Amino acid sequence: MTLPLIDPFERPISYLRVSVTDRCDFRCVYCMSENMTFLPKKELLTLEELDRMCSTFIRLGVEKLRITGGEPLVRRDIMTFFRAMTRHLDSGALKELTLTTNGSQLERFASDLYAAGVRRVNISLDTLDAGKFADITRWGRLPQVLKGIDAAQKAGLRVKINAVALKGFNDDELFTITEWAASRDMDLTWIEVMPMGDIGNEDRLDQYWKLTDLRAQLATRYTLTDLPERTGGPARYVRLEETGQKIGFITPLSHNFCESCNRVRLTCTGELFMCLGQEDNADLRAALRNNPGTDEPLEDAIRAAIGRKPKGHDFDYSRQTVDGRVSRHMSHTGG
Ligand code: GTP
Ligand code: 5AD
Ligand code: SF4
Repeated sequence: MTLPLIDPFERPISYLRVSVTDRCDFRCVYCMSENMTFLPKKELLTLEELDRMCSTFIRLGVEKLRITGGEPLVRRDIMTFFRAMTRHLDSGALKELTLTTNGSQLERFASDLYAAGVRRVNISLDTLDAGKFADITRWGRLPQVLKGIDAAQKAGLRVKINAVALKGFNDDELFTITEWAASRDMDLTWIEVMPMGDIGNEDRLDQYWKLTDLRAQLATRYTLTDLPERTGGPARYVRLEETGQKIGFITPLSHNFCESCNRVRLTCTGELFMCLGQEDNADLRAALRNNPGTDEPLEDAIRAAIGRKPKGHDFDYSRQTVDGRVSRHMSHTGG
């Protein structure tokens, strides 16, 4: 019998986030620098290797796969990979197959994703102002993303919006974004900006909008009821009684949630990161490529890696400096 993956702090690991490309058609300022050098293709896991990796994790007890990037839908032939994962949904081993996307390609892919068994998508959108959207993504076009959201809903996908909370950028849109999401029956999650990548430390600190403040601002207009449920993710949720909608808060900085962490992250080159906020990783690509005939060495490498999952990240803005910063870009590990 296969033993489940349990880390040194007794946390069962049932959720794998898989970045399938480091590329993206946008360059969000908090995620990438303007001139990113992307990886040569041969460094990337092939679609077959991604399949072998994910299938091994599923055999070891992973029940939820979230596909990320960069932007997952810019990887060529990525639908072949989604369709290959359908067999694990059909067998019942995989409970959820989902993705986090910037929405730019959803008009094209929404119905294929639904056909492959995807039922929910998380779409990143920080502003409803086309000019500000172009600024934060460096060159993204808002109408294209809005069309993607329409297409996703039309295809039957449940949409959750992720917005990074940025003081001086989208704090003036709190109610506009909330009401827009409510009018379209979409949940909305706010994320505290994390100190990752190569953008100056001071910028992060200036832009840091504490979600306890955001929540207090919401409470001036709505009645907030705390919801006990967690989706197995880091978000805490409230319901707005007036709109019926769920609002999530992801607060790695003001309220650490690492004690219930259930996830690890695979990069597009096959490194396994045990924590978003730490540099330690394991090279699973070597375990896979050096052993074409058997998955046993890969299983051993996965277990060894889980055996050193750290207790949590060290992100901290509290002393008016940014501590615990990670130099890796968020796009490398897919958020
Ligand atoms: P569901 O709960 O399944 O909807 O997904 P999720 O919120 O885990 O996934 P999503 O890709 O929407 O995550 C949103 C963002 O939350 C990520 O991009 C990260 O910025 C942040 N996040 C997710 N997991 C972690 C984590 O383990 N640690 C930290 N610090 N942040 C995380
Ligand atoms: N801090 C917080 N969230 C970030 N994301 C990207 N970079 C950061 C950061 N530095 C978010 C995106 C997207 C998800 C994949 O990660 O907005 O919702
Ligand atoms: Fe692309 Fe998402 Fe990073 Fe923006 S946050 S650059 S959309 S991967």
